[in-house]
Amino acid sequence: MAVGIFDSGLGGLTVYDAVHKAMPDQPIVYFGDNAHAPYGVRDADDIFEKTTFAVERLWDAGCDLVILACNTASAAALRRMQESWLPEDKRVLGVFVPLIEALTERNWGDNSPPREVAVKHVALFATPATVSSRAFQRELAFRAIGVDVEAQACGGVVDAIEDGDTILAEALVRSHVEALKRKMPNPEAAILGCTHYPWMEDTFQSALGPDVKVYSQASLVAASLGDYLERHPAMRGPGQESMFLTTGDPKRVSDHATQFLRRRVEFISA
Ligand code: DGL
Repeated sequence: MAVGIFDSGLGGLTVYDAVHKAMPDQPIVYFGDNAHAPYGVRDADDIFEKTTFAVERLWDAGCDLVILACNTASAAALRRMQESWLPEDKRVLGVFVPLIEALTERNWGDNSPPREVAVKHVALFATPATVSSRAFQRELAFRAIGVDVEAQACGGVVDAIEDGDTILAEALVRSHVEALKRKMPNPEAAILGCTHYPWMEDTFQSALGPDVKVYSQASLVAASLGDYLERHPAMRGPGQESMFLTTGDPKRVSDHATQFLRRRVEFISA
């Protein structure tokens, strides 16, 4: 019955945590490719290779359904995986669509033509690879018209979070928000388009100010996963056991994960 959750590192734990809270009995296998994080500075072929390797490992652990809890992999590799790589009995879901549906006030799977929505000025914070893929703008254009998106590539933030250096991560977030505001002084909404960033959500919100609505993915993805599993119960794979896998040093990764989740988490070698 297990479901797989993949990220380049610790960021997907924000999604894991929301899924676990929403579905406490659901076995989850988490894969963090910490040895190769960050993905945000890699090219699309490299991201595709690393992501497919991880997804195959999650299949081996009995997860027929895998959530790419990584915007960078969702932006750079998901389409190629779905078009030319994925076997028919497996599913891989990304994290963009639930967020964009929330922003554009749509219900799950509403594929009606794009229309005007309440927000007009949106700030997107994401990794360099996600920003340069323009995947967010592409998905948004299918659903909304007249929305001005200003993207800020947040170099360094993922590395600082992976290193457990929250002081550096906070300083970087503040400087990226300042850079964004120079380009778009009054955004109405801000998208945290990287699953690592919810760890820094308070810093984003305080740097952006109280009038900016900050959208973060974890709970949106958890809700849409619950909905998906209700409609496709057979996509729960044969795996029974929850576990945390990493390509990095299990002790170090476990310590950092414990610091973020505020409860003991034990990673083992992938
Ligand atoms: N947490 C990831 C994302 O959502 C990956 C960031 C990275 O490895 O650069 O984009």
